[in-house]
Amino acid sequence: MVGNAFFSARDIVRAQASTELGSIQQHRLTLDRAVSDKARFAVLRIMAEELRHAYQMFWVLDGDQTWKKPGLGDVAKQTMEELLGMELGGHVLDAFNIDFNDFLDNVTYATVIDLVGKYQLEMQQVFSYAPMARSMGPMLQEEAFHLGSGRSLLKEIGQMAARGEGDYSVQDIQRALNLWVPRGLEMFGNEHGGDTAVTFGFKDKTNGAAQAEYVEEVCGVIRNTNVAMIQEWLPGISRPDAHTLLDEINRSGDPGQGVKPEDVLFMPDTKFFRKRGAEEFLFQPYDVKGELLTETGKPLSADGYLGYLAKVLPVSFIGSREYDKYVDQMREYFAGK
Ligand SMILES: [Fe+2]
Ligand SMILES: [Fe+2]
Repeated sequence: MVGNAFFSARDIVRAQASTELGSIQQHRLTLDRAVSDKARFAVLRIMAEELRHAYQMFWVLDGDQTWKKPGLGDVAKQTMEELLGMELGGHVLDAFNIDFNDFLDNVTYATVIDLVGKYQLEMQQVFSYAPMARSMGPMLQEEAFHLGSGRSLLKEIGQMAARGEGDYSVQDIQRALNLWVPRGLEMFGNEHGGDTAVTFGFKDKTNGAAQAEYVEEVCGVIRNTNVAMIQEWLPGISRPDAHTLLDEINRSGDPGQGVKPEDVLFMPDTKFFRKRGAEEFLFQPYDVKGELLTETGKPLSADGYLGYLAKVLPVSFIGSREYDKYVDQMREYFAGK
């Protein structure tokens, strides 16, 4: 590989390894808040496997002498040194810098962020740099456990919330989704781009196409959690009837059989709380349903939008390092306009 392809490939390997190392640092923060021993074991296994993934990326760098370039030095060694020094706040992608504050973060993250990983790994199975392409199969197998654990724990926590048990309410789960889904969407890159990675033969789908499939899949996971919650509220209702009831509630916006629209979870709109991606919605005051918030006929001010975010994001995220970073980026964005 030469020129742009060489550095693009290095950046992809570097970003990938950073996600693996970041996720271990994040899970560790709230591991002891696990809702059960089974849940704690699942997270420990995820952490062990993410470490293996990071070392697999190191192996890709370390096993190929062509990463050493005259005039550039040993690009592999430099990249590995940098990766091993990364801490939360300094990782490549935003999703891997957010501190976990409770176990809902571990679970929501395994559900929606590891799912992006699955899409990236699947796309990179065609990576024209063969050592990278060959790395994808074993990692994908392990990712299936991460996703499965996230989904089944999300459903369990949803069922507990529906019964009024445990530490988390349906609102808490929704707030966690509102925090993590936007960062997951941004991991696909600008929804209008991705053509270069396809041209280089690093991926087989554009960003927008992959992201659209991801949205569908997350909606399906949320639907399954809702159905399980409805079955808690209405014992004896069949799964197909619970699906029909859910559709009816979502379509009409009215309660059905005592289940109110605000009792069920939903996918936050793709325009909500975005700081990267398509220009038309960056830092714009879209609400969780994708409506532009206004004030006397004009889009809500930056401060007004921050006030709105405080109502729909996890309380512990507001005022955190990554929240402050968002606020700074937002101010810079509008100052540059
Ligand atoms: Fe991984
Ligand atoms: Fe994973």
